[in-house]
Amino acid sequence: EMMVELLGLRKLGDDLAQTLGVSRVIVVAGDSDTEDWVKHSFGKACVNELKSIVKAGDVLAVMGGTTLAAVARMMSRDDVFAGTTFVPARGGLGEKVEIQASTISAECARRTGAAYRLLHVPEHLSAEAHESLVLEPSVRDILQLITSAAVVMHGIGDATHMAQRRGSLDIFTNELSRKQAIAEAFGYFFNAEGQIVHKQRTIGLQLDELQGKHVISIAGGQSKAAAILAYMKHRPSDVLITDEAAAKAILDRV
Ligand code: G3H
Repeated sequence: EMMVELLGLRKLGDDLAQTLGVSRVIVVAGDSDTEDWVKHSFGKACVNELKSIVKAGDVLAVMGGTTLAAVARMMSRDDVFAGTTFVPARGGLGEKVEIQASTISAECARRTGAAYRLLHVPEHLSAEAHESLVLEPSVRDILQLITSAAVVMHGIGDATHMAQRRGSLDIFTNELSRKQAIAEAFGYFFNAEGQIVHKQRTIGLQLDELQGKHVISIAGGQSKAAAILAYMKHRPSDVLITDEAAAKAILDRV
């Protein structure tokens, strides 16, 4: 029975990879909207993926969110992480400290034995402050490290849910719905066609800097089907780690 289920999940992943144009989709059992353990299965899948691709000296960039926080908790010590460094992919996006990219990067490093660096930037920067901050030598240094990342791990959120969770003003939430934002990733918002309709101002990795990096997207739950589909239209990742509920809901939509 276990075998039949595994074969079913593998088939689901292959179908989804084809549909989304993603090289590889790993589907785990369950629905992360309703079952917490599913996010831990994402973690196990992500650690396996890292173990097969990471090399000494690699910089591994992580984004924030509850999914990545759960993934970080599944990391464990392994020789492959010797000489690697975890970094937050971008500065704070208005989240609680537990699910900020910096916290997750430090947690990944603590559990794997890798090194880590933090990116200290205030959240709501004016254009002028932003411009002068990125010129600071210490900030420039860490930004260079982030840009050099070989691997990027990130979550994908439902646009409205993310705007609300980050305490955005109603006016902003209204603007996002007017622009028909469906998905959020890296602080960027996307419509159903995968076009960027809004970007939160924070420093770190920009979406157009992903080429050449091994990008692992981790997102599941039936409620994220539309968001995952929209983001993958923007830029199909190298690997998508998702769950059965999201996979089936995406395939139902196309
Ligand atoms: O940046 C956050 C992600 O886009 C989604 O967050 O993993 O808590 O759903 P989540």
